[in-house]
Amino acid sequence: MDRFVKNFIIMSIVYLAVSTILGIVMLHHPQTLSFKFVHSHLNMLGWVSMMIYGVGYHILPKFAGKFLKSPKLAELQFWIANASLIVMLLFYSMNVLSPTSSYITIATLAGIAHAFSIGIFFYNMLATLLPAAPPPQR
Ligand code: HEM
Ligand code: HEM
Repeated sequence: MDRFVKNFIIMSIVYLAVSTILGIVMLHHPQTLSFKFVHSHLNMLGWVSMMIYGVGYHILPKFAGKFLKSPKLAELQFWIANASLIVMLLFYSMNVLSPTSSYITIATLAGIAHAFSIGIFFYNMLATLLPAAPPPQR
Protein backbone atom coordinates (compact mmCIF):
# COMPACT_ATOMS: atom_id res chain seq x y z
CA MET A 1 0.00 0.00 0.00
CA ASP A 2 1.41 3.43 -0.95
CA ARG A 3 2.23 5.81 1.90
CA PHE A 4 -0.30 8.43 0.74
CA VAL A 5 -3.07 5.78 0.61
CA LYS A 6 -2.41 4.80 4.21
CA ASN A 7 -2.12 8.47 5.28
CA PHE A 8 -5.42 9.45 3.63
CA ILE A 9 -7.19 6.58 5.42
CA ILE A 10 -5.61 7.38 8.80
CA MET A 11 -6.49 11.09 8.54
CA SER A 12 -10.03 10.27 7.42
CA ILE A 13 -10.58 8.26 10.61
CA VAL A 14 -9.03 11.05 12.73
CA TYR A 15 -11.50 13.56 11.17
CA LEU A 16 -14.41 11.19 11.89
CA ALA A 17 -13.39 10.99 15.54
CA VAL A 18 -13.06 14.78 15.90
CA SER A 19 -16.33 15.51 14.03
CA THR A 20 -18.21 12.95 16.14
CA ILE A 21 -17.06 14.65 19.34
CA LEU A 22 -18.08 18.03 17.92
CA GLY A 23 -21.46 16.57 16.82
CA ILE A 24 -22.17 15.35 20.34
CA VAL A 25 -21.11 18.72 21.80
CA MET A 26 -23.51 20.44 19.35
CA LEU A 27 -26.33 18.12 20.44
CA HIS A 28 -25.74 18.89 24.07
CA HIS A 29 -25.02 22.63 23.78
CA PRO A 30 -27.17 24.12 21.01
CA GLN A 31 -25.27 27.41 21.34
CA THR A 32 -22.30 25.63 19.69
CA LEU A 33 -24.35 25.03 16.51
CA SER A 34 -22.49 28.01 15.01
CA PHE A 35 -19.70 25.42 14.46
CA LYS A 36 -21.96 23.28 12.25
CA PHE A 37 -19.86 24.13 9.18
CA VAL A 38 -16.79 22.73 10.97
CA HIS A 39 -18.64 19.50 11.82
CA SER A 40 -20.15 19.06 8.34
CA HIS A 41 -16.83 19.70 6.54
CA LEU A 42 -14.77 17.59 8.92
CA ASN A 43 -17.20 14.90 7.81
CA MET A 44 -17.65 15.61 4.11
CA LEU A 45 -14.12 16.83 3.20
CA GLY A 46 -12.34 14.96 6.01
CA TRP A 47 -13.95 11.60 6.75
CA VAL A 48 -15.86 10.92 3.51
CA SER A 49 -13.63 12.52 0.83
CA MET A 50 -10.29 11.43 2.33
CA MET A 51 -11.52 7.84 2.69
CA ILE A 52 -12.58 7.96 -0.98
CA TYR A 53 -9.19 9.41 -2.06
CA GLY A 54 -7.30 6.71 -0.16
CA VAL A 55 -9.39 3.76 -1.27
CA GLY A 56 -9.86 5.25 -4.76
CA TYR A 57 -6.12 5.75 -5.38
CA HIS A 58 -5.48 2.18 -4.21
CA ILE A 59 -8.19 0.35 -6.07
CA LEU A 60 -9.47 2.29 -9.10
CA PRO A 61 -6.28 1.97 -11.20
CA LYS A 62 -6.22 -1.78 -10.40
CA PHE A 63 -9.84 -2.17 -11.54
CA ALA A 64 -8.81 -0.63 -14.87
CA GLY A 65 -5.59 -2.68 -15.15
CA LYS A 66 -3.45 0.50 -14.96
CA PHE A 67 -0.85 2.19 -12.78
CA LEU A 68 -1.66 5.51 -11.12
CA LYS A 69 -0.50 8.31 -13.46
CA SER A 70 1.44 10.18 -10.75
CA PRO A 71 2.04 8.91 -7.20
CA LYS A 72 4.00 12.16 -6.59
CA LEU A 73 0.89 14.25 -7.35
CA ALA A 74 -1.16 12.02 -5.02
CA GLU A 75 1.39 12.63 -2.25
CA LEU A 76 1.22 16.39 -2.95
CA GLN A 77 -2.59 16.24 -2.86
CA PHE A 78 -2.46 14.58 0.56
CA TRP A 79 -0.46 17.45 2.05
CA ILE A 80 -2.40 20.28 0.38
CA ALA A 81 -5.81 18.73 1.17
CA ASN A 82 -5.01 18.20 4.85
CA ALA A 83 -3.17 21.47 5.51
CA SER A 84 -5.86 23.51 3.74
CA LEU A 85 -8.77 21.72 5.46
CA ILE A 86 -7.25 22.27 8.90
CA VAL A 87 -6.41 25.94 8.21
CA MET A 88 -9.88 26.59 6.71
CA LEU A 89 -11.71 25.10 9.71
CA LEU A 90 -9.37 26.67 12.27
CA PHE A 91 -9.76 30.18 10.89
CA TYR A 92 -13.51 29.71 10.36
CA SER A 93 -13.76 28.76 14.06
CA MET A 94 -11.59 31.70 15.14
CA ASN A 95 -13.91 33.97 13.17
CA VAL A 96 -16.95 32.49 14.96
CA LEU A 97 -15.31 33.20 18.32
CA SER A 98 -14.05 36.66 17.36
CA PRO A 99 -15.27 37.94 13.97
CA THR A 100 -12.31 39.40 12.05
CA SER A 101 -12.12 39.98 8.31
CA SER A 102 -8.55 38.66 8.05
CA TYR A 103 -9.70 35.32 9.52
CA ILE A 104 -12.34 35.01 6.82
CA THR A 105 -9.78 35.92 4.14
CA ILE A 106 -7.42 33.20 5.37
CA ALA A 107 -10.28 30.65 5.58
CA THR A 108 -11.28 31.56 2.01
CA LEU A 109 -7.71 31.22 0.70
CA ALA A 110 -7.48 27.83 2.42
CA GLY A 111 -10.82 26.89 0.79
CA ILE A 112 -9.34 27.77 -2.62
CA ALA A 113 -6.23 25.68 -1.83
CA HIS A 114 -8.54 22.82 -0.88
CA ALA A 115 -10.44 23.15 -4.15
CA PHE A 116 -7.03 22.98 -5.91
CA SER A 117 -6.30 19.70 -4.10
CA ILE A 118 -9.62 18.35 -5.39
CA GLY A 119 -8.47 19.39 -8.90
CA ILE A 120 -5.27 17.33 -8.44
CA PHE A 121 -7.35 14.22 -7.65
CA PHE A 122 -9.63 14.93 -10.61
CA TYR A 123 -6.65 15.23 -13.01
CA ASN A 124 -4.66 12.29 -11.62
CA MET A 125 -7.63 9.91 -11.71
CA LEU A 126 -8.82 10.87 -15.18
CA ALA A 127 -5.26 10.81 -16.58
CA THR A 128 -4.98 7.29 -15.12
CA LEU A 129 -8.34 5.88 -16.16
CA LEU A 130 -9.15 7.54 -19.49
CA PRO A 131 -6.23 6.53 -21.78
CA ALA A 132 -6.93 3.30 -23.69
CA ALA A 133 -5.32 0.24 -22.11
CA PRO A 134 -2.41 -1.26 -24.13
CA PRO A 135 -3.37 -4.41 -26.07
CA PRO A 136 -2.57 -7.67 -24.20
CA GLN A 137 0.96 -9.09 -24.88
CA ARG A 138 1.12 -12.51 -26.62
C1 HEM B 1 -22.36 10.56 16.42
C2 HEM B 1 -22.11 11.20 15.29
C3 HEM B 1 -22.75 12.52 14.92
C4 HEM B 1 -23.41 13.44 15.68
C5 HEM B 1 -23.71 13.41 17.17
C6 HEM B 1 -23.82 14.52 14.79
C7 HEM B 1 -24.51 15.65 15.17
C8 HEM B 1 -24.89 16.66 14.34
C9 HEM B 1 -25.62 17.86 14.75
C10 HEM B 1 -26.08 18.16 16.17
C11 HEM B 1 -25.81 18.61 13.65
C12 HEM B 1 -26.50 19.97 13.57
C13 HEM B 1 -27.96 19.76 13.18
C14 HEM B 1 -28.70 21.07 13.18
O1 HEM B 1 -28.46 21.91 12.30
O2 HEM B 1 -29.54 21.29 14.07
C15 HEM B 1 -25.20 17.92 12.51
C16 HEM B 1 -25.19 18.38 11.22
C17 HEM B 1 -24.58 17.73 10.17
N1 HEM B 1 -23.92 16.51 10.22
FE1 HEM B 1 -23.64 15.40 11.88
N2 HEM B 1 -23.39 14.22 13.53
C18 HEM B 1 -22.73 13.02 13.56
C19 HEM B 1 -22.14 12.37 12.49
C20 HEM B 1 -22.14 12.81 11.19
C21 HEM B 1 -21.55 12.08 10.07
C22 HEM B 1 -20.83 10.73 10.16
C23 HEM B 1 -21.74 12.86 8.96
C24 HEM B 1 -21.33 12.64 7.52
C25 HEM B 1 -20.82 11.53 7.02
C26 HEM B 1 -22.46 14.06 9.39
C27 HEM B 1 -22.81 15.08 8.55
C28 HEM B 1 -23.49 16.20 8.95
C29 HEM B 1 -23.86 17.28 8.04
C30 HEM B 1 -23.56 17.34 6.54
C31 HEM B 1 -24.55 18.24 8.80
C32 HEM B 1 -25.13 19.54 8.32
C33 HEM B 1 -26.59 19.24 7.94
C34 HEM B 1 -27.41 20.48 7.73
O3 HEM B 1 -26.92 21.59 7.59
O4 HEM B 1 -28.65 20.33 7.75
N3 HEM B 1 -22.66 13.99 10.74
N4 HEM B 1 -24.66 16.73 12.96
C1 HEM C 1 -13.33 23.42 -1.04
C2 HEM C 1 -14.44 22.76 -0.76
C3 HEM C 1 -15.64 23.33 -0.05
C4 HEM C 1 -15.86 24.57 0.49
C5 HEM C 1 -14.90 25.76 0.52
C6 HEM C 1 -17.21 24.57 1.04
C7 HEM C 1 -17.82 25.65 1.66
C8 HEM C 1 -19.11 25.67 2.17
C9 HEM C 1 -19.79 26.81 2.76
C10 HEM C 1 -19.17 28.22 2.88
C11 HEM C 1 -21.00 26.40 3.19
C12 HEM C 1 -22.09 27.25 3.88
C13 HEM C 1 -21.90 27.13 5.37
C14 HEM C 1 -22.90 27.96 6.19
O1 HEM C 1 -24.09 27.98 5.86
O2 HEM C 1 -22.46 28.57 7.17
C15 HEM C 1 -21.12 24.99 2.89
C16 HEM C 1 -22.21 24.19 3.22
C17 HEM C 1 -22.28 22.84 2.99
N1 HEM C 1 -21.36 22.07 2.31
FE1 HEM C 1 -19.56 22.68 1.65
N2 HEM C 1 -17.77 23.33 0.87
C18 HEM C 1 -16.85 22.55 0.20
C19 HEM C 1 -17.02 21.24 -0.20
C20 HEM C 1 -18.09 20.44 0.13
C21 HEM C 1 -18.22 19.05 -0.24
C22 HEM C 1 -17.22 18.27 -1.12
C23 HEM C 1 -19.38 18.61 0.32
C24 HEM C 1 -20.02 17.24 0.26
C25 HEM C 1 -19.39 16.14 -0.12
C26 HEM C 1 -19.98 19.73 1.04
C27 HEM C 1 -21.15 19.67 1.76
C28 HEM C 1 -21.78 20.75 2.33
C29 HEM C 1 -23.03 20.66 3.08
C30 HEM C 1 -23.82 19.37 3.34
C31 HEM C 1 -23.35 21.97 3.48
C32 HEM C 1 -24.57 22.38 4.31
C33 HEM C 1 -24.27 22.13 5.78
C34 HEM C 1 -23.63 23.32 6.48
O3 HEM C 1 -24.18 24.43 6.42
O4 HEM C 1 -22.57 23.13 7.11
N3 HEM C 1 -19.16 20.82 0.91
N4 HEM C 1 -19.96 24.56 2.28
